Amino acid sequence: MKKIHCLNAVSSCGTSLLTEDYTLTDDIKEADGVLVRSASMHELEFPQGLLAIARAGAGVNNIPLDECASKGIVVFNTPGANANGVKELVIAGLMLASRDIEGGIRWCKDNKDDENIAKSTEAAKKAFAGYEIRGKKLGVIGLGAIGAEVANACTSLGMEVYGYDPYISINAAWKLSRNIKHITSVDTIYQECDYITLHLPLIDSTKGMVNKAVLDRMKDGVVVLNFSRDILVNEDDMAEALKTGKVKRYVTDFPNPKSVHMEGAIVIPHLGASTEESEDNCAKMAVEEIVDYIDNGNIRNS
Ligand code: MLT
Repeated sequence: MKKIHCLNAVSSCGTSLLTEDYTLTDDIKEADGVLVRSASMHELEFPQGLLAIARAGAGVNNIPLDECASKGIVVFNTPGANANGVKELVIAGLMLASRDIEGGIRWCKDNKDDENIAKSTEAAKKAFAGYEIRGKKLGVIGLGAIGAEVANACTSLGMEVYGYDPYISINAAWKLSRNIKHITSVDTIYQECDYITLHLPLIDSTKGMVNKAVLDRMKDGVVVLNFSRDILVNEDDMAEALKTGKVKRYVTDFPNPKSVHMEGAIVIPHLGASTEESEDNCAKMAVEEIVDYIDNGNIRNS
């Protein structure tokens, strides 16, 4: 019997795909394969017989890749499986940054006992007026599965989309995001765009890449969205840029002691992939990858 350990909640929709040759185990020491979502594996000791780890998600920064490579443990992720879920939350982030939805909802709650609330909305309409995203320039940095989905959807919403990816060719970028208007340099994005959204992995070259020097190159009053990893942004520099108005809003899907105290930040508790559909898609893909490897030695994506 082959054994799979689920390190943290991975949709049962995936584990229900396991055949009768497989069983779930609570003990990682006896596992042939491990399914993991966001839990860190950096402090774990890997058992001798561990063959593969499948991350139900895109980022693999919670897994010690060098150690896995040296021990011959194959690491899979599930690219694209949660792209729609993240894309939809990025669009919500664009709306939250552009329309004062938070202020409006708070106002309704604060005035819930006012019987004439319907009549007092004139003041609220003025206080919470926003602006539209149609016609605005959006820079998408990173055109993998999620960035490409965002670029395509935002083009449909009438935004003028600029795309940049340091790792894929221009042709591949065009194929992924057919609707994108400009595949361009990152500098053009910094200089031209009203909104900039990050869709890059956390690796040495992306750590802290949005720092003071980069923020200074952006347009005054830019909106920055970060649904990748918080460490991509130097959050001390971001806090300062929000204070001076250089950055109008910072939308981040990463609560941490700095971001939650940042005046002008819209902080979401890493909900991008937290939809029933994305969780099911990731779990299914992760289980299929790990089983195909353990049973047949196939490496679908690693
Ligand atoms: C990802 O890397 O795709 C996300 O972190 C997924 C998640 O929320 O677990």
